[in-house]
Amino acid sequence: MTAPGPFRVIEGGRTAEPSPGLLVVGAREVVTMAGGLRRGPEQGAVERLRTDDPAGPEAPVVACWEGRILAVGPRAAVEAVLERDGFPLARFARIDADGGTVTPGLIDPHTHLLFAGTREGELIQRQRGASYLDILAAGGGILSTVAATRAASEDDLLAHGRRWLDEMLAHGVTTVEAKSGYGLDLETEVRLVELAWRLGQDGPIDVVPTWLGAHAVPPEFAARPAGTDAYVRYLLEEQLPGIAAHGRARFADVFCETGVFTADQSRRILEAAAGYGLIPRLHADELAPSGGAELAAAIGAASADHLATPSDAGIAALAAAAASDEPVVATLLPVTTWYLMKDHHAPARRFVDAGIPVAIGTDFNPGTSPTASLPLAMTFACINLGLSPDEVLAAVTINAAGALRMDDEIGSLEAGKAADLTVWAVPTATQIVTWPGADLVRTVVKRGRIVADRPAR
Ligand code: NIG
Ligand code: FE
Repeated sequence: MTAPGPFRVIEGGRTAEPSPGLLVVGAREVVTMAGGLRRGPEQGAVERLRTDDPAGPEAPVVACWEGRILAVGPRAAVEAVLERDGFPLARFARIDADGGTVTPGLIDPHTHLLFAGTREGELIQRQRGASYLDILAAGGGILSTVAATRAASEDDLLAHGRRWLDEMLAHGVTTVEAKSGYGLDLETEVRLVELAWRLGQDGPIDVVPTWLGAHAVPPEFAARPAGTDAYVRYLLEEQLPGIAAHGRARFADVFCETGVFTADQSRRILEAAAGYGLIPRLHADELAPSGGAELAAAIGAASADHLATPSDAGIAALAAAAASDEPVVATLLPVTTWYLMKDHHAPARRFVDAGIPVAIGTDFNPGTSPTASLPLAMTFACINLGLSPDEVLAAVTINAAGALRMDDEIGSLEAGKAADLTVWAVPTATQIVTWPGADLVRTVVKRGRIVADRPAR
């Protein structure tokens, strides 16, 4: 394997007319993640196709046609099937994985992609003993980002979004969820959802917009008596109907946490959102047990996120929901607990042992997790949460797709699914977590097109 050169995003990668076929050859390992959502003992069940001779006829290849996966398997067998079924090999462009590894494109199921301003001062405040919620209560934290975001122009927000989406692409990510939540008034929340949607249309990364109007109580409400109740009323009567009429948000999220929104307020907001067709997900039990896991299970949320301090009853509720066709995915965000200098971590092993599907995200945001690197979060999931590298692979592919209710379309390399894949400059996917901070991505393919690469030097 040769060392990869500088990373480049290929302009027009999404819109350029591709050759209809693409064949990824020369891999030492292909991880398919075939077989659906992983839970319990299956969380770490990873199908690997491997060879010691990446140039040989038995080496695993991935064939794509018009943006979909056509076949995965040993090269000679796949080529024979393609010729037989009327897909002439001459119509396939080839990518040489150069002895590296192919995985499904990674999926980041929890980001706060769009914001303005930075928050480095808070790190210093926390080092001096202030807590995250103290800083928020004093009008800092999320609220300082709200002030900067309300004042930002659309062009600045778009440029910021593109810059960080490129960073995610450079880390092998092909789909991200993106929350609003730094507007907290109808106009700015709609703008954030709209811009997230537009960035996804521009590509190459698919962006799934989530409305997070209930991220904090904005100053114009916090100043009033019973300000939180008044803001919840405004969310239900004005902001949510406006977001629903705009029509671009797919999910609704709430920061359900002691001192922010109660489980009861969160339930009212998410049930009303579901009435408009927005699928619920929530920030649950991040800092203290707040009834978030229980609520996620009760309302059939797509995902309960953070879960660093769930109650026993909350874990039991998620476990009971896990047996259903649409379980609540536990989306864990280990960079956040680390960056907030917490000494507790989400009880990931308990979730796996209870049969709850686990996903991992970055929580990319300016305050608690200023990293766009999902591979870095994967390393933290191993080191701090005690998940195995294989359990983590499922957590950022098929289970992250499940957290976005997109596991029929993305998250594994199986015939018929979207041809979203990442080629890594390591000989096995296990090594993605063992070189934290390194740039390991060689090529990113989105819907059958090469959208970014780092050609061999
Ligand atoms: O997931 N906890 C709430 N929301 C974000 C942080 C947002 C912020 O601090 O700006 C989180 O950690
Ligand atoms: Fe978050």
